[in-house]
Amino acid sequence: MKILAFESSCDETAVAVVEDGRRVLSDAIASQADLHALYGGVVPELASRKHVEVIAALTEKALADAGCTRQDIDAVAVTYAPGLIGAVLVGLSFAKSVAYGLGVPLIPVHHVRGHIAANYLAFPELEPPFLALAISGGNTMIVDVRDYTDLEILGATRDDAAGECFDKAARVLGLPYPGGAPMDKLAQQSRGGVYTLPHSHVEGAPLDMSFSGLKTAVVNLAHHAEQVGEPLDAPALARDFAQAVSDTLVPRVMEAAKQSGRTVIVAAGGVAANSVIRADLERACEKAGCRLYLPPLRWCGDNGAMIGAQGYYEYLAGHTAGMDLNAYATRDI
Ligand code: KG4
Repeated sequence: MKILAFESSCDETAVAVVEDGRRVLSDAIASQADLHALYGGVVPELASRKHVEVIAALTEKALADAGCTRQDIDAVAVTYAPGLIGAVLVGLSFAKSVAYGLGVPLIPVHHVRGHIAANYLAFPELEPPFLALAISGGNTMIVDVRDYTDLEILGATRDDAAGECFDKAARVLGLPYPGGAPMDKLAQQSRGGVYTLPHSHVEGAPLDMSFSGLKTAVVNLAHHAEQVGEPLDAPALARDFAQAVSDTLVPRVMEAAKQSGRTVIVAAGGVAANSVIRADLERACEKAGCRLYLPPLRWCGDNGAMIGAQGYYEYLAGHTAGMDLNAYATRDI
């Protein structure tokens, strides 16, 4: 079954053709990062306009790269939530028109389910049940993946997402948007241990997280250094920051594994590319005797293939939608 899949929830327009949920026939991505870098972060209105500009041509490219004609497409999958609502609506409206025009089913896919499903593309043997640590620019959650389409959030951030926090910290260090990857590179120049950063704890919800205090601490450190004319040790701050994020995420996912009895852990989303978090997860999983799946960097960030992968399993579960399908900002999975 060939699925034409669309993703436009933030600043990447992505269109892919995926066969039977596991085989990527094409994966076309147009990133808007350079445009938003001018403003130090994503400007939602500009993101929507850029999606409109490129989505038709990108669809032609995805079909051509896959060696497909429109008639080869059996279904259309699309991100319907969560994300920047105007941006999601562009992909959703376009996908609806394609599904209607081709007379094929329309499959709604939750963006975070898609991130988790990116692992199905990289690891053919991977099947639920497992525990997923989904960490991206807009979402941070620990998810119990009971089955392909039966997922439950066990813990989540109460405020900022981990990626958003990386991006804001990078900005005060003068790094370009999106700041996660440059922060990671900078952090590799230092062993850290220089800055004491806060670690959050949500009273009564041990698997939940908060990143806003950590973000503010970095901003305050930078302002203070500027005021007193003391240079910041940027590599050490980047390293200590990554460690603080990792120390928030990794013990919680291991605790969730203990509580749920899951022994397979899967990382997902853009922040899953982070070298400190990957190394800490590897160590923790080895110690706990858990099997760990770390997606290759290519499948960490937003892409269309992950939507095609999850879309296949949503279709098998009968989850198709009509032309009244709407876009939602909700993170409910
Ligand atoms: O999954 P993604 O491409 O988009 C969303 O669904 O949000 O994630 C983007 C986020 C950005 O915040 C970016 O800075 C972060 O992932 N990111 C990283 C790294 N690479 C990308 N954060 C930390 N370390 C990295 N190596």
